[in-house]
Amino acid sequence: MSSAVETRPSTSLGTNGGGDGPRHVAIIMDGNGRWAAQRGLPRVAGHRAGAEAVRKTLRAAAEHQVEVLTLYAFSSENWRRPEEEVSDLKGLLGYYLERELDALDKEGVRLRLIGDYRAFGPELVARLDKAVERLSGNSRLTLVVALNYGARAELVAAAKSLAGQPAEAIDEAAFAAALDTAGLPELDLLIRTSGEVRLSNFLLWQAAYAELLFVPTLWPDFDEACFAAALGEFSARQRRFGGR
Ligand code: IPE
Ligand code: IPE
Ligand code: MG
Repeated sequence: MSSAVETRPSTSLGTNGGGDGPRHVAIIMDGNGRWAAQRGLPRVAGHRAGAEAVRKTLRAAAEHQVEVLTLYAFSSENWRRPEEEVSDLKGLLGYYLERELDALDKEGVRLRLIGDYRAFGPELVARLDKAVERLSGNSRLTLVVALNYGARAELVAAAKSLAGQPAEAIDEAAFAAALDTAGLPELDLLIRTSGEVRLSNFLLWQAAYAELLFVPTLWPDFDEACFAAALGEFSARQRRFGGR
């Protein structure tokens, strides 16, 4: 991944027409717990079902020529959950990585991680690093997984990394290049499932001109058709970027 920062909007100014799809889509995958509760199942069953929704969404994103799919998998605030749930989530992540790695490779998926994922412990970190390495030659779709990610922490870390530089050298491009998402195309579409209408500390800088889409679907029920519908909604929006 080049460290060059792309600041131009990914669609032409003033319109989103002409069949331009989003290059970069991010999803706050929410509602696993409620999905499980509706079925009288433990929360972990919801997370397991959520992992299946990831597979479907990934496939749909690749089919629709999305370049980057960024998924919020674990927030820096999710440590507030009971230890058992955190441990279930870590276990599922390790399991999913193991099971899906070959398929991801075959589908041409590159993997990138954002957030302070080192907090997940040496075993999972080693597996994650191995997966990133294994998929590093792929280029069809970049899957960005946010793990122990918090936008405020990301912004503070960026500020710290720039602190030694002369003030004139710190512009928007330099700031963007100091974020975990350095070099990725601008975020075009940010989807949150489960009906919650908030960002929960996700991609605060990157969402500056993203189209926001809040859908009632609980994450485990999200599938290819839901993704296609979201892209349809995106293409019906008129992006102005402050112009007219
Ligand atoms: C999203 O589902 C998954 C993670 C945050 C890891 P939730 O677990 O937040 O599900 P709800 O919001 O309780 O339904
Ligand atoms: C946001 O969902 C984090 C992820 C989807 C990983 P949460 O369920 O943690 O968010 P809040 O607590 O409802 O804001
Ligand atoms: Mg939630």
